[in-house]
Amino acid sequence: LKVPHRRDVPFARLTTLGVGGLCRWLFEPTTEAEAQAFVRACAREGLPYRVLGGGSNLVVLDDIEAPVLRLALPREVRREGTLLTAPASHGHIALAEAAGRAGLSGLEFASGIPGSLGGAIRMNAGAYGREWVEVLDRYRFLTPEGELVEKGPEPGEFRYRWSFLTGGRVVLSATARLAEGDPAAIQARVGEYRRKRGTSQPLSRRNAGCIFKNPPGQSAGRLIDQAGLKGLRVGDAEVSPEHANFLVNHGHATAGEFAELMATVLAKVREVHGVDLEPEVEVWR
Ligand code: FAD
Ligand code: EPU
Repeated sequence: LKVPHRRDVPFARLTTLGVGGLCRWLFEPTTEAEAQAFVRACAREGLPYRVLGGGSNLVVLDDIEAPVLRLALPREVRREGTLLTAPASHGHIALAEAAGRAGLSGLEFASGIPGSLGGAIRMNAGAYGREWVEVLDRYRFLTPEGELVEKGPEPGEFRYRWSFLTGGRVVLSATARLAEGDPAAIQARVGEYRRKRGTSQPLSRRNAGCIFKNPPGQSAGRLIDQAGLKGLRVGDAEVSPEHANFLVNHGHATAGEFAELMATVLAKVREVHGVDLEPEVEVWR
């Protein structure tokens, strides 16, 4: 298979949390045709594969033997009127910033969410009361059989921190429908969001964003906080004293330490509040 690939890359380098074993096979197609060839080859062989973006919503526990696809498409952003299209491997924050510079409003909420555009579509990433599906005009993806589909979002495809783009589907690109705006006003809103994030989230240590989804009408962070778990530490993995739904890496944490800490938080929140938190991060083992 003629797709650029590397062997035995530590997940510590591929994820923001910085733990995990080795990525045995990392395929990094530089064109959509290469990505399609990869998916078709896996489908033909009946070989399950995984899709990696910026690794900012992942907790990897072991070595991963299955082939991993990480798109490395050319970084070209296309503007048609107020529509902005970018490849899935484009940096998410960089795209939000490019929109702002171009005087396009609508992606301000995205300006503090790391990772790739593809990961943000797959997760229907959101903040400050907005989420991707609200600005998504259309997107292109590969089916698990390697067929290319282009469509607009439909009911049932995207929910809070969830989409149907799993199970081997690969987002290739997405188009946002934005609005003309004043670059200074956009920048002001971005600045306000960044200040809020800076005061409430532990951005100085490696983390994977919020570990658990908010249960309907509740805040997972508050539930974990009220259970008295802030500062709970297993080795170098800690429940952040700043925001209880963030687990942070003090430098040398291991995957096992994060697994133990997540299990402890789950059990304690169930015991204290009778609530079963659902992970937002994806756990790879
Ligand atoms: P990854 O972590 O690489 O992957 C996540 C999932 O997406 C996996 O299932 C993976 O298989 C899939 N995936 C990745 N790329 C593709 C693709 N091209 N096609 C199909 N599937 C794909 N999230 C929010 O929603 N709101 C926030 O406010 C927020 N704040 C954060 C703050 C910090 C400091 C950090 C570290 C994370 C935060 N997150 C937040 C979580 C994370 O940034 C988002 O979920 C992000 O969209 C994940 O993108 P990624 O490219 O890193 O995906
Ligand atoms: N709170 C506590 N203790 C804590 C943390 C929070 O009491 O340790 C309280 C806060 O005081 C506030 C409430 O809980 O009253 C909500 O907290 P916050 O405003 O920080 O928002 P959140 O619900 O914890 C959500 C998203 C974030 C997103 C922010 C801003 C989820 C799981 N989290 O956090 O998204 O950045 O809103 O919109 O939906 C992510 O998904 O990874 C993520 C970081």
